[in-house]
Amino acid sequence: MLTATSENIIVKNPATGEVVQEVRRHSKEEVNKALENGHKEFSRWSRINAHERSRLLRNWSNIIQENKAEIAEIMTRENGKPLKESLGEVNYATSYIDWYAEEALRIYGRTIPANSESKRIIVSRHPIGLVAAVTPWNFPAAMMTRKAAPALAAGCTFVVKPAVETPLTTIKLVELAHEAGIPEDAIQYVNGSGSVIGKLFTDSQYVRKITFTGSTPVGKALIKDSADTVKHVTMELGGHAPLIIAEDADIDFAVSQTILSKFRNAGQTCVCANRILVHENVVDDFANKLTEAVNQLKVGNGLDESTDIGPIINEKGYEKIVEQVNDAINKGAELLTGNQYEVNKEQGYYFVYPTVLKNVDERMVIMQEETFGPIAPITSFKTLEEAVEIANSTLYGLAAYFFTNDYKVGTYLHENLDFGIIGWNDGAPSAAHVPFGGMKESGLGREGGIEGIEPYLETKYLSIGNL
Ligand code: SIN
Repeated sequence: MLTATSENIIVKNPATGEVVQEVRRHSKEEVNKALENGHKEFSRWSRINAHERSRLLRNWSNIIQENKAEIAEIMTRENGKPLKESLGEVNYATSYIDWYAEEALRIYGRTIPANSESKRIIVSRHPIGLVAAVTPWNFPAAMMTRKAAPALAAGCTFVVKPAVETPLTTIKLVELAHEAGIPEDAIQYVNGSGSVIGKLFTDSQYVRKITFTGSTPVGKALIKDSADTVKHVTMELGGHAPLIIAEDADIDFAVSQTILSKFRNAGQTCVCANRILVHENVVDDFANKLTEAVNQLKVGNGLDESTDIGPIINEKGYEKIVEQVNDAINKGAELLTGNQYEVNKEQGYYFVYPTVLKNVDERMVIMQEETFGPIAPITSFKTLEEAVEIANSTLYGLAAYFFTNDYKVGTYLHENLDFGIIGWNDGAPSAAHVPFGGMKESGLGREGGIEGIEPYLETKYLSIGNL
């Protein structure tokens, strides 16, 4: 494992601005050394039989669960999310390890009938090589294991660069992987800025695959930079999820699911509802009930057990939210609740109270761009066709939600919405056993489910002749 050098990364608690810990930034040489070590280890790790790899992954999952309380606290301190969400995320993170510990045993090949009696054809699956991952601050545990678990299960080695805001959860998870018996060079972390390390990853001849969760512009740069060495890429990028409430929807249920989708992690998720489209005949009822429910949410330090909404990760995130809310209000949106802030720029904390806006329209930035904050903008529609047109009028295609008990309405919406993840009467569709990923500029490839191990495998075809 690396000993880091150079200047430090200062990890701060976004709820207080206090320093949580300093982490050594790795030098260019160290990052390259990690990649070389990962590459060398590949020839050993990939030859370990799948049952043993599966056993080691199960050990890792168990050890994480044994340390769950500590990991959750680390996560809340560096990310700010409520402790109850951090505990949930540890479970979510191990669910990926558990799933891929099983999938390690199901990497099957096949035989193909040949077109000659003297030939046999065999197709086999092989790990792709060293994988380099860049993971985000919003889910420091689950986004890491969602990549590491299928990579290791497939027989790939893995180097991860966590977000500078939240490296501590990753460091802990990697240490626990080693404690579980996974070789030190099979899973490593490196710390530093995304642009510097991302370039070292994409330039390296050792890295065969880049997997990234984060913004669309950074994803595009990684795709471009991966072209020179023709690396495989998996990209889980931005979202701008529509949430459609049909005229017949169960409004109380839709409100509870909207709260789940919109306000998880203070709205700092790629899949959260970003544009709420409600049929004109039920929009007042929905907006009033949503406002009532939002007013029950408690904003505060995530370490306080009663907190529902933690801080925004940093000033940049906070500024973007304020700009979008002001833009919407200036252009005529009605503020139903929120637009309140508790901010101390010197200390470095930014709390945004959950906000509901009504009568938003397409001219407003909030309807065009991802918000990444606890803001619920509501617009109304007359026809389903109109709802679909608004929903699809974005470059993003990650998640969409709709609420209806009419199977014809649901079938129409399912068939016409251009999104990779769809929740029908379901505001929380994410899980380890399903394919997570987006269409259009929301990404390439899928993570989770049986699809999630495919990107870590190469196909080798063997033709045996002269038999
Ligand atoms: C994300 O927002 O990037 C991931 C959320 C999830 O896995 O549900």
